[in-house]
Amino acid sequence: MDPKFVLLMAVLVTVATGKSDYVRPKPRKNLQFPWDSKPSSQPKQVHISLAGNRHMRVTWITSDKHSPSIVEYGTSPGKYNYIAQGESTSYSYLFYSSGKIHHTVIGPLEHSTTYFYRCGREGPEFQLKTPPSQFPVTFAVAGDMGQTGWTKSTLDHIDLCEYDVHLLPGDLSYADYIQSLWDTFGELVQPLASARPWMVTEGNHEKENIMFLEDGFQSYNARWKMPFKESGSSSNLYYSFEVAGVHLIMLGSYTDYDEYSDQYSWLKADLLKVDRKRTPWLLVLFHVPWYNSNRAHQGEGVSMMEAMESLLYAAGVDIVLAGHVHAYERSKRVYNGRLDPCGAVHMTIGDGGNREGLAHQYINPQPHWSDFREASFGHGELKVVNSTHALWSWHRNDDDEPVRSDQVWINSLVSSGCLADKRPGPRKILMAP
Ligand SMILES: [Fe+2]
Repeated sequence: MDPKFVLLMAVLVTVATGKSDYVRPKPRKNLQFPWDSKPSSQPKQVHISLAGNRHMRVTWITSDKHSPSIVEYGTSPGKYNYIAQGESTSYSYLFYSSGKIHHTVIGPLEHSTTYFYRCGREGPEFQLKTPPSQFPVTFAVAGDMGQTGWTKSTLDHIDLCEYDVHLLPGDLSYADYIQSLWDTFGELVQPLASARPWMVTEGNHEKENIMFLEDGFQSYNARWKMPFKESGSSSNLYYSFEVAGVHLIMLGSYTDYDEYSDQYSWLKADLLKVDRKRTPWLLVLFHVPWYNSNRAHQGEGVSMMEAMESLLYAAGVDIVLAGHVHAYERSKRVYNGRLDPCGAVHMTIGDGGNREGLAHQYINPQPHWSDFREASFGHGELKVVNSTHALWSWHRNDDDEPVRSDQVWINSLVSSGCLADKRPGPRKILMAP
């Protein structure tokens, strides 16, 4: 057959089907982890998280129950000028008993500084870098991670990015009741999570409750302790923290959120405390998206949105990051279903690489508020350049290469005259008792 005819047919098929050369990858299986022969007092699953102003929480697990919850640290390799004593916990779940889970807060730490540290007085030396005190600051974002070949690909790509803090809007290990999978997830993420703070909130895969047998979030709360006490919250399922000039609020899609709930009261109080002179940017993360034009999990975020969207709008939240749907979507500024220059930009980024695969089916036509959507694995990067501008990009795992597929500059609401205190109407809901 004439090669020109074949080429012409290929072009016609591409135009007719709307498909590009990009071949969407299939899900990958869970990774296999070899048996670990490390002695029992060796630290495993090391990860760090921000713990209040200039402090970091170091978390690790030992199978030796007598191993001390001590972190030695300093700014030169092998030279530990500081020592901190922490606490430990453990849990049992059906026939599984966890190792000793250590949580030790270190600090005060200098900003933008590399620290070398050792856990439990033995094992390898780790190093971490503290976030800056001022702009620019960069966040890596990936939700619905799991522990498959695609998860590894996403982590490798995040590792190529120069970022300060990892944000994870829910669904971490996909252990789904098999507790040893929490341990393998901890090992998988250790190279990144021991070097930069990982700030997480819970998804449905963290629940793991079994009626009459096991309460929910046992493993998640024991292993991924976040700075909830530091931010005045009574639950590890919602909290806030600040990095450089950004105030971040991590909400819980799977704990009460109605106007009589603790979470609602805490959110209102936290929003009122935000000082936009100190933190011009205001970000919120939770698991179930409020603006989602994918057929997967359609409408699941509606009741939380009805309860809380007006609070976020009144406070002038800039960006909302969610997961749950295994695809990527970015909205225009939106509030109450309509385009609004003072509403938030909503991102769904539940495409970290879990074993359930991608969510391909979309509602058509694309809603007017939806600006970009694609069902591919990948991660996001948010570089907050200054008080007025941030650069958001989404990087698709194109085969095993990171490819920047979506990029947009976002102006802060501070710079757009949308601040809550300039709008007495919406502000009322924040001030109401
Ligand atoms: Fe989910």
